[in-house]
Amino acid sequence: MKKCWINGKTIIITGASSGIGREITRKFIQNNDCHVIGVGRSVEKFQALAQSLGEKSNHLEYYTFDVSEKSAWIDFADKIKGRSIDVLINNAGVLPPFASFDRLVELSEKESGDKCTKLEAVMKTNFMSILYACTYLLPMVEKSSTPALINVCSSAGCCALPGISVYSASKGAVKNFTESLMLEKGYYVGMICPGFTKTDIFRNQRRSMDNKLIDFIATNLDTMSRKIYRGICKKRRRMVFGFDAKIMDGWYRHYPRRSLTFFRDVMRRSHAEIFKDIFE
Ligand SMILES: NC(=O)c1ccc[n+]([C@@H]2O[C@H](COP(=O)([O-])OP(=O)(O)OC[C@H]3O[C@@H](n4cnc5c(N)ncnc54)[C@H](OP(=O)(O)O)[C@@H]3O)[C@@H](O)[C@H]2O)c1
Repeated sequence: MKKCWINGKTIIITGASSGIGREITRKFIQNNDCHVIGVGRSVEKFQALAQSLGEKSNHLEYYTFDVSEKSAWIDFADKIKGRSIDVLINNAGVLPPFASFDRLVELSEKESGDKCTKLEAVMKTNFMSILYACTYLLPMVEKSSTPALINVCSSAGCCALPGISVYSASKGAVKNFTESLMLEKGYYVGMICPGFTKTDIFRNQRRSMDNKLIDFIATNLDTMSRKIYRGICKKRRRMVFGFDAKIMDGWYRHYPRRSLTFFRDVMRRSHAEIFKDIFE
């Protein structure tokens, strides 16, 4: 086992049952002998993950609850009270369909009977869950000799795009919250901004994702999770990974106004099916 600050640590990872969270869970257990306390909703996905870990399956422990519910966090904090926790990785998130704000409101009303319920759920899952986790769990983490907090943001938190207004707002909140904590806390606080990565997060899309532009910019899950894993092992603070994320972040920081219209125009001209509910 390579020498690394995270070897043997106990880590809470939200969204550990799928996608990026599942892959980094696997790496921390297999490469660093960490004990991972995974949080998600699907018992079946956690069972499959545990099975894939073979003889190290006892390094995975999981709790299933809805991270958007404050009361669930209070219960969870109570259940693990007194345990030694070294690292908190807030990764759980949802992506609503790519659609204009007006369409998202219509969809929310159609699916939930209320214009705002589905939009609030995005803010609550992506941002409020991190606020709850930090409120109720950081005091435990801060008892560790090597406390660490890592929040998963998005390229959409670095630069807004049309069609993801609410998602982008939720990730913008994650970005600013995390950057504030980086300045306040005397320990390692990291922020990950992945670009487009092919995972199940696109399951809510109503339209096809088959498009040359998307294939060109998307990073595969294995590459993305390897970069994230290495970034955390090196205690990198600001991790912007993926070709699209680097362009969005870099251009927005240098040319905030022009880059926004440029990205919108690229999306519109791509004629990608997935962007149709934004521009038509
Ligand atoms: N994929 C991308 O292109 C991309 C790009 C930028 C940022 N990100 C961010 O990366 C993070 C991981 O995304 P991913 O692509 O790996 O997505 P994913 O495969 O869909 O995984 C999402 C994870 O979050 C959990 N989760 C979602 N809502 C939850 C809730 N209400 N309560 C508890 N757990 C919940 C899911 O648990 P269950 O499956 O058990 O419900 C799952 O484990 C997210 O924060 C996402 O915003 C992804």
